[in-house]
Amino acid sequence: MSEIVKELLYTGKAKDVYKTGNEDEVIIKFRDDITALDGGRKDTLSKKGEYNALISAKLFEILEEHGVSTQYIRLVEPNEMLTKSLEMIPLEVICRNIATGSLLRKYPFHKNQRLDPPVIQFDYKNDVYHDPMLNDSIITALKIATQEELDKIREITHVINKVLYKFLNECGLILVDFKIEFGFDKEGNIVLGDEISPDTTRLWDIETHDNFDKDIFRKGEKGVVDAYHRVVDLVLTAEEKEKWNVEKIEM
Ligand SMILES: Nc1ncnc2c1ncn2[C@@H]1O[C@H](COP(=O)(O)OP(=O)(O)OP(=O)(O)O)[C@@H](O)[C@H]1O
Ligand SMILES: [Mg+2]
Repeated sequence: MSEIVKELLYTGKAKDVYKTGNEDEVIIKFRDDITALDGGRKDTLSKKGEYNALISAKLFEILEEHGVSTQYIRLVEPNEMLTKSLEMIPLEVICRNIATGSLLRKYPFHKNQRLDPPVIQFDYKNDVYHDPMLNDSIITALKIATQEELDKIREITHVINKVLYKFLNECGLILVDFKIEFGFDKEGNIVLGDEISPDTTRLWDIETHDNFDKDIFRKGEKGVVDAYHRVVDLVLTAEEKEKWNVEKIEM
């Protein structure tokens, strides 16, 4: 572990958040734990945390280059990210470009229907209530966010989707959907937090539509870490892979 880690603030299902010497900054440690089906399936898979941190760091960098305000400061270890400390908003902001997963179970969309404009959905980040879907009225009534904050979150999410869709497409991947979380920094700005990784996105191969994401694990199939490794290989530059000692993929 890096030296700037001080004390454990919070431990979640896949990451630990640590205090640092600076109260405005935290370290997010990406663990190798993976869960799915509302905690019903669990495993620990070597390198998973590292790959998720490397991918998240890269995507936060791309977003920053396009003017999106993110928590990201830098990686201190391949699986430890130094970030701004945020007061998290308990929303899972879900953005979908293609209809799949729970959307097909709950609504009469066609399988793989293109969603344009993308569908944005808010779930309540609350394990006791099993993350129910919210609407603007429930969000404002529960005082989770104001209408202005929600409008802002929607606007930023559309920008994030556009930027990442294009970048990942150029890497050979389709950004099918993703889940993000926002928080407030100490000035009260809405900032993108948490992670953007194959744990929290659906990524398909442009040609074959094969999954490169947690759906592999949800379906109980093998090879989830190899798929994440492949995403690292596609999104990082050769220099970045060398810097973080990412193993080459045997073709
Ligand atoms: N920049 C940040 N500052 C403070 N907390 C953050 C930041 N980014 C993410 N978090 C929080 O850190 C935790 C990350 O851990 P993880 O994703 O493993 O938790 P989780 O399983 O999603 O959820 P839960 O909070 O329900 O345990 C989340 O609660 C997330 O909201
Ligand atoms: Mg989480």
